[in-house]
Amino acid sequence: MDDDQWWKEAVVYQVYPRSFNDTNGDGIGDIPGIIEKVDYLEDLGVDVVWLNPVYESPMADNGYDIADYQSIHPEFGTMEDWERLLEELHDRDMRLIMDLVVNHTSDEHEWFVKSRKGHEKYDDYYYWAEGEPDDDPPNNWESLFGGSAWSYDDERGEYYLHLFDKKQPDINWRNEDVRDEVFEMMNWWLEKGIDGFRMDVINLISKTESLPDGDPEGGLTGAEHFIDGPELPNYLDEMCERVLDDRDVMTVGEMIGVDANTARNYVSEDSGGLSMLIHFEHMEVDAGDGGKWDIKEFDLLELKRILTDWQESLADDGWNCLYFNNHDQPRAVSRFGDDEEYRVESAKMLATVLFTLQGTPFIYQGQEIGMTNTTFEDPSEIQDVEAENYVEMALESDEYDSYEELRPVIEYRSRDNSRTPMQWSDEENAGFTEGDPWIGVTENYEDVNVEAARDDEMSVWHYYRSLIDLRSERDVFVHGAYELLLPDHEEVFAYRRTLGDEELIVVCNFFDGEPSVELPELIRVDTPELLIGNYSVREAADSKINLRPYEARVYEL
Ligand code: GLC
Ligand code: CA
Repeated sequence: MDDDQWWKEAVVYQVYPRSFNDTNGDGIGDIPGIIEKVDYLEDLGVDVVWLNPVYESPMADNGYDIADYQSIHPEFGTMEDWERLLEELHDRDMRLIMDLVVNHTSDEHEWFVKSRKGHEKYDDYYYWAEGEPDDDPPNNWESLFGGSAWSYDDERGEYYLHLFDKKQPDINWRNEDVRDEVFEMMNWWLEKGIDGFRMDVINLISKTESLPDGDPEGGLTGAEHFIDGPELPNYLDEMCERVLDDRDVMTVGEMIGVDANTARNYVSEDSGGLSMLIHFEHMEVDAGDGGKWDIKEFDLLELKRILTDWQESLADDGWNCLYFNNHDQPRAVSRFGDDEEYRVESAKMLATVLFTLQGTPFIYQGQEIGMTNTTFEDPSEIQDVEAENYVEMALESDEYDSYEELRPVIEYRSRDNSRTPMQWSDEENAGFTEGDPWIGVTENYEDVNVEAARDDEMSVWHYYRSLIDLRSERDVFVHGAYELLLPDHEEVFAYRRTLGDEELIVVCNFFDGEPSVELPELIRVDTPELLIGNYSVREAADSKINLRPYEARVYEL
């Protein structure tokens, strides 16, 4: 394999610094806290750390509102701390990718502060449009965090565009100076020695020039004018030319509304220049027509169809990013598994899928011990700006009378579910902090924690360890071709992976029933070997197998 594609063989671990490990008792995770856990990451066996934003920020969206791209927020530590983290990772042959958030800045970024004053150089660093405070906004675009995408700025006496919170104004990529500044900043970080970027909502950076109204019937209003906008390919080409092309880096583009077919424009060997994409298709299987807060039961057939589509579309050209969890999603085990009776089994089953599809697996902190969703008894416990905005708007509408009615939706869907403190031990605050944690610790920390998991050979943690080892020992895990088996089975996800004469059969039961499935593929040759599974007592392999609740098996033929 080309050395410059090391990221295909890598396993990524995502650290959400605020919630990972606090060393100074202020209740907020910090970079020295990550340094303390570098050995832990090495023991787990991961190759790359993706660090969520640690830059200077007023923290309206936990750091996705950046006030200075080239400094570290004091809550997280200093630039020296960050440099030490990089060194400690590199010393252990692990790499570091940083979050690149360049669709928007904070409204407290110097560029915006000057732009709202009409400063000549910064005048059109953002999208400004004339209007009066009580007029309708300049167009009907909606923010991804709800409500109009425009807010009125008293100082400048104009509206500005923000596809996210009003404290996250969108920067104007049409302006060459803006692009110069962004590319210079990227080069600066790369020269400090980082190994790549995860690019936040990177397919929103180009907007239709005249900023026309969007189709009000079309889901998120205006999306057709800012998702995959007209200049996006040019901006990405320019980024490749000026920053990425001659460097050995991993680039992970987060893209909203992209499907497997369009993905190829971005990740194929000769176009796009990105290593892989974080897409949302499979994260939408439990959302109804009303969007993310409209919850419906997920349909395994749909999930299989989407994952298969991505596997097939990128089979020979391009690469998949595999994830079930990150800081924007509720905990996968609570969502696609069972976080009570079968927590361990279902967490391992999901891990099995994550590690046996073709692509690069991403583990989000806590996933390796099967951390679950949490509770929000009172709206004051909600920290996430997106959920806060939603509750506020829902209560203002006539649809809901009280928070109690919204609570199940919040407890199912809120991004805070994955942002609770990492559960290290059964000590107070799960060993995350000696102070008051910025967000509540999930109640089950006395049972679900790293220390307990490492002591128990049957734990989710040890299962991840084994999967990581298997994947690094056998090329078929990384490079094998994918073929869906049992396409119409509503409870079981089964597939074959083949590479030369290596062959795997993966069978995963996604529910708590006990289906029997016929897999003639299994006994084509000899008795297959069970490489890994999540139940200790195993029946002998036959063409018919009886699965237990959330059972997962990987056979090697
Ligand atoms: C991305 C981030 C998310 C953030 C949003 C705005 O989706 O992952 O956390 O709120 O972009 O930057
Ligand atoms: Ca701290």
